[in-house]
Amino acid sequence: MTTIDKKTSASGATSATGAPLLEVRDLHVEFHTRDGVAKAINGVSYSVEAGETLAVLGESGSGKSVTAQAIMGILDMPPGRIPKGEILFHGEDMLTMSAEERRKIRGRRIAMIFQDALSALNPVLSVGYQLGEMYRVHLGLSRKEAKARAIELMDRVKIPAAAARVNDYPHQFSGGMRQRIMIAMAMALEPDLIIADEPTTALDVTVQAQVMDLLAELQREENMGLILITHDLGVVADVADKIAVMYAGRIVEQSPIHELYKRPAHPYTRGLLDSIPRLDQKGQELYAIKGLPPNLMKIPPGCAFNPRCPKARDICRTEVPALVPVTEQDGGELPGRGSACHFWKETIHG
Ligand SMILES: Nc1ncnc2c1ncn2[C@@H]1O[C@H](COP(=O)(O)OP(=O)(O)OP(=O)(O)O)[C@@H](O)[C@H]1O
Ligand SMILES: [Mg+2]
Repeated sequence: MTTIDKKTSASGATSATGAPLLEVRDLHVEFHTRDGVAKAINGVSYSVEAGETLAVLGESGSGKSVTAQAIMGILDMPPGRIPKGEILFHGEDMLTMSAEERRKIRGRRIAMIFQDALSALNPVLSVGYQLGEMYRVHLGLSRKEAKARAIELMDRVKIPAAAARVNDYPHQFSGGMRQRIMIAMAMALEPDLIIADEPTTALDVTVQAQVMDLLAELQREENMGLILITHDLGVVADVADKIAVMYAGRIVEQSPIHELYKRPAHPYTRGLLDSIPRLDQKGQELYAIKGLPPNLMKIPPGCAFNPRCPKARDICRTEVPALVPVTEQDGGELPGRGSACHFWKETIHG
């Protein structure tokens, strides 16, 4: 397969089949451990188009990374199991593909960027060698050609003096520069989709913003789809198009990004927004959502958030709320918005 036919199939917002670039449908993942079955993912559905950035937000343990691992096909199985669901890439279900077909997609057409560049890079090989390896292994380029491409890539992710630094080792770069190298590695084979799992969490705030801006810029230029996993709403505000908020392995709210900030439609999202520090509230005590995320081996009946929810009533303790479309008070459409709260109306309009 050449990169040429890939580009034509991914040129528009949707492929020739009219399918989104990536569509996760009703995904379930469980982990069978000695202590019991942890229901990590309980019916996640989301989609990403070419040129679009989806932010996935949620507390630690909500299932953001496990969903990404299922998409990449790097889930630990066992103990992991996927009892139900589909992961459609250009309309084709990757869960039913052969291992061989799957391997052709991984790294080439869907690439992943991890939080910790230092552990993802090999400490005893130069960054130029590691970047070049992508081209030698996948495209069969010579060492010399691969090195030239590695320098181009380092330039592309704005590493100063790339040609002079191509033979340096990972530990010789700063955290921000290393994360740029990870981005370069993910971009090397011009994937259709990049999944970035907390790509800037280990960096300090100013460097975070620079790396995020770079990622957004490259994504726009290449018309790639981007899934940006984070537990920090502040980091994704300027770069994401839409957002999915996860809680206990489900999507509890989805929305175009800016509308979510203005009018959250789920008490959990409201809690997350209220716990962001704001400059105009300096000195005031910061709000924190009370309680802890649920034990995934015994998720509470009804809405999983109910024990922590300030609005919880009887129905919340018995009936699992479905993710339903959110509308204006007069029934007017709010495209792309959904909430899995029995009381979304009073949450958004109240
Ligand atoms: N290999 C595994 N074996 C058992 N349980 C696992 C395994 N991998 C993940 N889990 C469980 O699945 C749940 C979801 O984990 P996941 O890593 O997706 O959370 P997350 O939302 O990415 O959190 P964080 O913000 O901390 O990265 C967690 O409770 C985790 O303990
Ligand atoms: Mg994670």
